[in-house]
Amino acid sequence: MTIRAVVKGVGHYLPERVVPNSHFEETLDTSDEWIRSRSGIERRHFAAEDETTSMMATRAAQAALDAAGLTAADLDTIILATSTADLTFPSAATMVQANLGMTSGFAFDIQAVCAGFVFALSNANALIVSGQAKRVLVIGAETFSRIMDWSDRSTCVLFGDGAGALILEAQTGNGTSDDRGILATDLHSDGRHRDLLYVDGGVGSRTTGYLRMQGNQVFRHAVEKLASTARASLAKAGLGADDIDWIVPHQANIRIIQGTAKKLGLSMDRVVVTVQDHGNTSAASIPLALSVGHARGQIKPGDLIVTEAIGGGLAWGSVVLRW
Ligand code: UT7
Repeated sequence: MTIRAVVKGVGHYLPERVVPNSHFEETLDTSDEWIRSRSGIERRHFAAEDETTSMMATRAAQAALDAAGLTAADLDTIILATSTADLTFPSAATMVQANLGMTSGFAFDIQAVCAGFVFALSNANALIVSGQAKRVLVIGAETFSRIMDWSDRSTCVLFGDGAGALILEAQTGNGTSDDRGILATDLHSDGRHRDLLYVDGGVGSRTTGYLRMQGNQVFRHAVEKLASTARASLAKAGLGADDIDWIVPHQANIRIIQGTAKKLGLSMDRVVVTVQDHGNTSAASIPLALSVGHARGQIKPGDLIVTEAIGGGLAWGSVVLRW
């Protein structure tokens, strides 16, 4: 008997305000054409002034609970992947716990920037297979609009806000790659590259700070590392790239997404792409893409999904799961 962490429900929330690329043409030396051709982004959502990461996370979580036909009382754990928690502490996850009216179990945040959701899925899986949790709500939620330097055209046109959530439940499998649920995970980080993508302030410093990125350097690492982690997690599951029904990648740049698919020998019609509508929402991008891909009818029960992401740290990884 093998315990598997199986997807019971998925949901997302996007703030109301949609900002097209043309918005940035008013204040910066940039163009819709540059942003589209270099990143694939056409628009993004920005949170309202009084809207926080935990509020968006709660909306996404409620949508996932509704989809699963569950209530907060059915959960025993909440893991929230974010680098833009409402406060330094307590965790945004405990705020979601309170908002949902969940009074038992435990909740905590995970911070691995754009790879955060993959790290959160891997930790949720570990809690479930070790018998420490039965139902885990895994959320990715970000308000990157709060850490943008609006005078820096090389970063502020790329990011957006939003939240996505999955509910994982312990179920019994037969131990083969035909099982539903998480089949393998693969995580990495290499702090030697921490200067390529960071926020130049925060707790312990005197300023809140803004996101700084050497985009072309991150790009160089991305395709190589994403293809290699996807291959590694597939190998752990005893599978190969040919078995993939859908790649659901971190949505940072369409050229990274295309380059990774090409390296894996997969055509783009097997990739869920949302970057044009959401921009880069960091840890929220994968659960948003899973939820949108499911709502579009792309992702169906039994499909083999590979998610992969890379971000600040550098931190990167992948998860293989059967929906
Ligand atoms: O999610 C976390 C991980 N992050 C990522 O995966 C992001 C990875 N990087 C990227 O997506 C891409 O590197 C970018 C979209 C950020 C940039 O694309 P690029 O093709 O790597 O461009 P570049 O940084 O090499 O810049 C090319 C030129 C530069 O001008 P010069 O030096 O060639 O004259 C930039 O100053 O484009 C210029 N540039 C812009 N021009 C118009 C940079 N930003 C803009 C802009 N509008 N917004």
